[in-house]
Amino acid sequence: MDRTPDGTEPPAAGPPSRAPQRPVTVDAEGSAAVSGARLRLRTGGFAAGGGCVARGPDGRVVFVRHSLPGEEVVAVVTDASRRFLRADAVAVLEASPHRVTPRCPHAGPGRCGGCDWQHVSLPAQRRAKASLVAAQLRQVAGLDVDVVVEEVPGWADGYGWRTRMQFAVDPSGRAGLRRHRSHQVEPVDDCLLAAPGIGAAGLLGARWPPAGLIRVATTAAAGGEPTTRQVVVEPRQAARPGHRQPPARLPPHPPAGPPPLTVEVQGRRLQVSAGSFWQVHPGAPQVLASAVTAGLAPQAGDRLVDLYAGVGLFAAVLGPLVAPGGSVTAVESAPCAVADARRNLADLGEATVVAAEVSPALVARQLGRPDLVVLDPPRRGAGTGISAALAGCGARRIAYVACDPAAAARDLRVLLGHGWRLRSLRAFDLFPMTEHVEVVAVVEPGPR
Ligand SMILES: C[S@@+](CC[C@H](N)C(=O)[O-])C[C@H]1O[C@@H](n2cnc3c(N)ncnc32)[C@H](O)[C@@H]1O
Repeated sequence: MDRTPDGTEPPAAGPPSRAPQRPVTVDAEGSAAVSGARLRLRTGGFAAGGGCVARGPDGRVVFVRHSLPGEEVVAVVTDASRRFLRADAVAVLEASPHRVTPRCPHAGPGRCGGCDWQHVSLPAQRRAKASLVAAQLRQVAGLDVDVVVEEVPGWADGYGWRTRMQFAVDPSGRAGLRRHRSHQVEPVDDCLLAAPGIGAAGLLGARWPPAGLIRVATTAAAGGEPTTRQVVVEPRQAARPGHRQPPARLPPHPPAGPPPLTVEVQGRRLQVSAGSFWQVHPGAPQVLASAVTAGLAPQAGDRLVDLYAGVGLFAAVLGPLVAPGGSVTAVESAPCAVADARRNLADLGEATVVAAEVSPALVARQLGRPDLVVLDPPRRGAGTGISAALAGCGARRIAYVACDPAAAARDLRVLLGHGWRLRSLRAFDLFPMTEHVEVVAVVEPGPR
């Protein structure tokens, strides 16, 4: 079957249609440049950011949220710059066959910013993500890859997977979620993406110190009982530099923070403190650890380096596979995660946790000659200097784990430019209902 630019099937005849409730008015061409203008638009493929690309009446590109490729919509301009407009589809005149009704009443134009794609069927979401990843790899790294976004077993409907959430509190003390590209809080009664253990409904129904932040984490598993939950309440931030606001009065909690959560991955129990990074989707540690293990194919005696190690997820799972005779070096800069990693890897014979920022100098001089490298940087990627240093590290393979395919494509371009080639690429739907996707790319030295 032919595919549309987003990789979804072209619209079929007789699509389920959400007809506008009342007659639609659109603004005349000349007034299209301003926020609030209503435009009648035909949408093209999905763009990074979650919206579809359309062409406005004056020729400018319009990124249309709450739309799908191939739709005709009425969209309200939310943001206008000289080069492009942002708009929200507020009425669908001709709907895509992949459009579904959002389950959450807070998903929609001007409402909660947590979900980009509740109006898109899950298979179409995954095809769109695959198509966006493939486009990034092609345009940025010159790679032609057939990408498939894999479902995480156990969460077939795409809801109830968020084990870490941050709620904002409005001036009246009600907790909610931020609106899209806004500091405004959308008060909500529940969040359908939240894992059961988050207890979102209970938290959201309570009164909180105005303008604070509530960070919640849980260990809920698929279909299982939530085990433990961490709740951290933070005072509001200063609104503007130089205009410090007094901290909100907080309910007392132990100065050391809540106790760490204990999570189990491939038979290993890991502790995760409230301040340490941990994957949000409960299936993520398992699928990512499996993908990295399969991609790197560790052997006894290998020297493994885990860069941006967090609490030591990959080091903990791969460590036993390089024994006997091998070693594990985990590098992490956040003190809290370093302390967790030291505890979590203590039982591995040859494991060292280096508390440091990853840098080109560290890669070139402090890591020796590793056989295998795991590289799981924050969203911005590792950057050119570190990628170039890794290209000369002598490893047999590098597994690059990325939550931003664009950043991964930039770093992969550097490695490919230094004579490495892509061995495999897998993508996982770790963030259903959003435009986000996780990628595991494995590279090795050699011609393309
Ligand atoms: C995406 S997380 C990955 C953590 C771990 N691999 C996991 O999957 O649980 C990135 C980690 O890098 C750490 N980090 C951020 N910048 C860093 C830097 N410049 N050097 C070392 N670690 C850094 C963060 O604290 C975080 O733990």
